[in-house]
Amino acid sequence: MSATLHPQSLLHPSETGTAADDFMPLLGTDHVEFYVGNAKQAAHFYRTAFGMSLVAYCGPETGDHDRVSYVVQQGKVRFVLTTALRSQHTIAAQVHQHGDGVHAIALLVEDARHAWEQAIARGAASAAEPATLRDERGEVTVASIHAYGDTVHTFVERRNYGGAFLPGYRAIDHDPVARPVGLLHIDHMVGNVGWHQMDKWVDFYERVMGFRLYQHFDDKDISTEYSALMSKVMANGNGYVKFPINEPAEGRHKSQIEEFLEFYNGPGVQHIALATHDILHTVSSLQQQGAEFLRVPHSYYTELEHRVGHIDEPIRDLEELGILVDRDDEGYMLQIFTRPVEDRPTLFFEIIQRKGSRSFGKGNFRALFEAIEREQQARGNL
Ligand code: FE2
Repeated sequence: MSATLHPQSLLHPSETGTAADDFMPLLGTDHVEFYVGNAKQAAHFYRTAFGMSLVAYCGPETGDHDRVSYVVQQGKVRFVLTTALRSQHTIAAQVHQHGDGVHAIALLVEDARHAWEQAIARGAASAAEPATLRDERGEVTVASIHAYGDTVHTFVERRNYGGAFLPGYRAIDHDPVARPVGLLHIDHMVGNVGWHQMDKWVDFYERVMGFRLYQHFDDKDISTEYSALMSKVMANGNGYVKFPINEPAEGRHKSQIEEFLEFYNGPGVQHIALATHDILHTVSSLQQQGAEFLRVPHSYYTELEHRVGHIDEPIRDLEELGILVDRDDEGYMLQIFTRPVEDRPTLFFEIIQRKGSRSFGKGNFRALFEAIEREQQARGNL
């Protein structure tokens, strides 16, 4: 147990790799593909609750007879919701295993074949060899490697591709349902791995993808009376892509990571953090549109100014919405977490606004984990 939190902040963005020694330059996150039980309804949730716009579709009408995908987008956040049309399909098997969840974290690169070859040469297992997809709008090259569990990383190379998403997809020009809330881009995506597996995956991201350790937290930093975990944040050379990796640590009861691993039936993506420039607006819109968030007690806000000093946002407004604040020596950040977006207690989202801080919210871990534990308790999983 620990109330004082001391993350080891290891790298400034300027200290991460230079272009010359970055063997796998990443331009950012291209998209995230989810395998789901019912893509039509999942897409509707992201459109109505998260305000994303439907921009592309593929399925039987476009010549794909065993799967359907809906592409939804807001700012640079692009999700692909994919479902199998037939029970024998591998996508159906994965949904049976995991429930709805993230299958692919797709990374935008200059040269997908080169990125894939670099990863394979450094020990990655191939999930899909490089393939160039073409239609009348141009071509896109994709290739994939296996990461933790059934999660894959897909390298996406777009050379002047003018279509809505990928060749084979039909563009949707206007979405009358979408109600944008100010989501800008993915700040980070967190993976949960099994007992004592964190360092194995830290090594994978260092060795195979050229990432470096950005921050780490041990179980003294991240524990409550019941729940403990350890986390290392990996960042790529230019710092655009950040993947914290969590593993469970010994606690009195089952930790939130163990609950995830049990219900996801293995390692997988725990949460996706989405950035905004105006968290008060974004979160109040999301709440009005039906997104559900974790709440912390009133005492969090009575102690807030003492802990983080002066902030621009009225504390009353933050409390009303349930937004958390943390500060480091470079500034502060505001964040809030949704409840799981599936019935299984697995994937959830974070909304984050950074005002100088590079923190992942260490000062909030305790209040947050106690909120998660109250929900675990209500599910009978603590
Ligand atoms: Fe996060």
